Amino acid sequence: MKAVQFHSVGGPEVLQYGEIYQPVPGPGQVRLRVAASAFNAADNGMRAGFLPIPIELPHIPGYDVSGTVDAIGEGVTGPAVGDAVIAFLPMERDGGAAESVIAPAESVVLAPTSIPLADAAALPSVALTAWQALFDAGELTAGQRVLIIGAGGVVGKYAIQLAERAGVHVIATASPRSIDAVRAAGADQVIDRTATDPLEAIDGQVDVLLNLAPIDPELFAAYVAKVRDGGRVVSTTAFMETPDDETRGVTAVTVFVLPNRERLAELVSLVDGGALTVEVTRRIPLAALQALHAEAAAGRTAGKTIILP
Ligand SMILES: NC(=O)c1ccc[n+]([C@@H]2O[C@H](COP(=O)([O-])OP(=O)(O)OC[C@H]3O[C@@H](n4cnc5c(N)ncnc54)[C@H](OP(=O)(O)O)[C@@H]3O)[C@@H](O)[C@H]2O)c1
Repeated sequence: MKAVQFHSVGGPEVLQYGEIYQPVPGPGQVRLRVAASAFNAADNGMRAGFLPIPIELPHIPGYDVSGTVDAIGEGVTGPAVGDAVIAFLPMERDGGAAESVIAPAESVVLAPTSIPLADAAALPSVALTAWQALFDAGELTAGQRVLIIGAGGVVGKYAIQLAERAGVHVIATASPRSIDAVRAAGADQVIDRTATDPLEAIDGQVDVLLNLAPIDPELFAAYVAKVRDGGRVVSTTAFMETPDDETRGVTAVTVFVLPNRERLAELVSLVDGGALTVEVTRRIPLAALQALHAEAAAGRTAGKTIILP
């Protein structure tokens, strides 16, 4: 089968597109005929060797995947041959930048039926990150207020939709390129961070500050004043410290997304119920993955790209 893999960590040039043996599912595993994998910033970090994830080499990137089950291993009782599924694959194992991928049976859930199967690869780890940031790390409940910095990005638009649906009041920062999308996602107040100082524009305090952007650490610390006593600062930008304010009981939580099959199935239901929109910005062939990693390494990727085998 065709696949992209790397034999050593390094720059985008370590990615090799070529022919490898099709994998065979072991006990408890299924094989997917890949419809698409999705690109995440962590794919770039894993290839470069920046992330402390114990991958075995050679490694195939692409832990968010959609596809059709075409073989099942011993003892698999859930998924069946022919099922259209999505998965957030274990990050240390081979991913879906290939024509076939092996998935633990317990990682796959039935794909949404209301969107193309390939596009559904854009959902798993990103929507789970938004959910876990808002409701597990942030413990947000109906009637509370959240300020989302970097709301115009991929995680941010899922976060706005999920928060609004839960009855949480959303204040979002965005730049002109994403303001319309942030409004369309349902934010109650949108602050153009390029025209207004968000610190001035926010009325009162919020229960949770959710940061999704590579902001200046001093500015991040200044935003903490906008969190009520006993509130939370949640961040997905794990490469920088999440500030707190012990004197006021404001706690800091850095999110590291975890697979969660039941939650992923709920997110699929929301997509099919029309409550959650999956956005795909770009579709590229497998052979162009090295070029995409080069864009990411240069800080030039935006939106959600899926990779078609
Ligand atoms: N820890 C985890 O488990 C985990 C999981 C998933 C993602 N992440 C990380 O979470 C972050 C968000 O992910 P994403 O996929 O949503 O990224 P993204 O699509 O790049 O979104 C980030 C958004 O931040 C905004 N932004 C950029 N510079 C800014 C600045 N100086 N001030 C304020 N806003 C700024 C941009 O929107 P505007 O220009 O429109 O404002 C951008 O769209 C990334 O760092 C990603 O690597 C972590």
